[in-house]
Amino acid sequence: MSLRRALLAVLIIGCGAPSSPDGGSGGGAGTAGGSGGGSTGGSGGGSTGGSGGSGGSGGSGGAGGGDLRGLVATHSPLPAVPADPTNAYADNAAAATLGQMLYFDKSYSGTLNHSADGGNGSLGLAGEAGKVSCFSCHASASGDDNRSIPNNVSLGTDYGTRNALGVVNSSFYQWTNWGGRFDTQWSLPLAVAENRALMKSGRLDIAHLMFEKYRAEYDAVFPTPLDPSLSGDAGDASRFPLTGRPKQGTEPDGAWEAMTAGDRAIINRIYANYGKAIAAYMRKLVSRNAPFDRFMAGQDDAISDSAKRGILVFVNKGDCAGCHSGPNFSDDQFHAIGVPQTGPRVPAVDNGRFADVPALLSSPFNSAGAFSDKPDAGKLDGLVLSTSMIGQFRTKSLRGLGQSAPYMHSGQHATIEAVIDFYDQGGGAVPDGGMKDPRVRPLGLTAQEKADLAAFLRTLDGEPVPAALLMDTSKP
Ligand code: HEC
Ligand code: HEC
Repeated sequence: MSLRRALLAVLIIGCGAPSSPDGGSGGGAGTAGGSGGGSTGGSGGGSTGGSGGSGGSGGSGGAGGGDLRGLVATHSPLPAVPADPTNAYADNAAAATLGQMLYFDKSYSGTLNHSADGGNGSLGLAGEAGKVSCFSCHASASGDDNRSIPNNVSLGTDYGTRNALGVVNSSFYQWTNWGGRFDTQWSLPLAVAENRALMKSGRLDIAHLMFEKYRAEYDAVFPTPLDPSLSGDAGDASRFPLTGRPKQGTEPDGAWEAMTAGDRAIINRIYANYGKAIAAYMRKLVSRNAPFDRFMAGQDDAISDSAKRGILVFVNKGDCAGCHSGPNFSDDQFHAIGVPQTGPRVPAVDNGRFADVPALLSSPFNSAGAFSDKPDAGKLDGLVLSTSMIGQFRTKSLRGLGQSAPYMHSGQHATIEAVIDFYDQGGGAVPDGGMKDPRVRPLGLTAQEKADLAAFLRTLDGEPVPAALLMDTSKP
């Protein structure tokens, strides 16, 4: 059952994103309801027998290994990063080189709200600017944030509301962020840069950064050269104020609102290209050849016998593969599993996808907008806000799990064991109005099955990304 569902999920992704936003979640819920029951009965016994068998076959590894490989055949190897037709520079090497410089550049970030106090991981003193880069929150081996203290949510210019996601292998997702706030990798840096809690910068600051430091690199990649009026020496330099962005919330009109529509369009294009260059860089942050992949490629001793038994739990009794499917261990869909909103700095309520979809649909920088290189990609077709999205979060990839603690969007669990206990108890309560995914239900795992599952999840950490990609190439 689980395997069929896993295959189905891969097919849905493979057939293209257009059908996934709506068809995916509606259909998915139905499938879950139907097969959840079957799986409960079927896999309880199946898994028990299976574990026993696998334990017994420890010596005769070959045959057991082959059977096991069939169960998770769609989980390995990690293929090439999928094409992104909405970003014409996605696989442009010079764009990626520029993107790496921008990714490490702190100089355009705004003032910090919290001083480092030895216990919060802040990047400087309150009031200091130029302290936060993308890398500041994505520096672990999986590109996750291990700096902010406590680590449930990230501290940039201020505290954010969610646990940071790893950037390594993130280009395999069709939907970006825990709640699917973005439908392309290149639109994310734009919003992050202007977010007051993350980098507190503005698109005008970014356009000037580009002109002052990265003009040659930018002009070598993008067809329209940077406007010479971005120079401070230009007679009409006042067209482009040094700092600014569209007003947010109840802010009054500012420098941005005073600009002409034509000049705003010039800046918006540079701002979009900033994101496209960074996305080109992030597409190179891929980690392959985890012990699990080496096992799948035929190396029987790449993972322990306990981890091999864990594969059975993952697929059968645990039903993890029902959502953590495909080579990225994610169906790229959204599910309400009831992760609590507790812990330091964690907001009391997070409606997940329900909160994120309106911003996605209204963004001029989404895949269907004027800055997309394929506005008819159809990715947003049929996507409408629905109460079924309340409390839904995107299935997290399980690759690189060893470096992504604490786990879940609100950093709830410090260890892999704690995550397994959470699922074993049947997850948690979903926010008011939400509908819990029926696949998350009490599992009745034995201590041995839990240990085996944990051992398996620890085989998913791949090789580090090349050191050259983690060098700070930003200009002073
Ligand atoms: C203050 C910390 C912070 C900074 C600075 C920051 N991020 Fe993040 N990043 C986060 C958090 C937190 C999330 C998850 C947000 C969410 O889901 O709502 C995230 C999510 C992401 C993701 C999504 C990965 C996925 O699995 O979908 C990518 C990609 C990413 N960030 C790249 C960047 C880039 C590029 C920059 C610089 C422009 C940046 N980040 C700056 C904290 C940060
Ligand atoms: C109904 C779909 C579904 C099933 C079944 C499921 N998961 Fe998840 N998983 C998710 C979603 C959605 C998230 C993100 C939830 C959040 O943060 O709110 C997640 C997150 C996780 C994380 C956190 C990863 C991180 O880096 O933060 C781990 C670990 C995990 N799941 C393991 C498992 C295991 C083990 C099983 C089987 C016992 C399982 N999952 C079953 C959907 C599912």
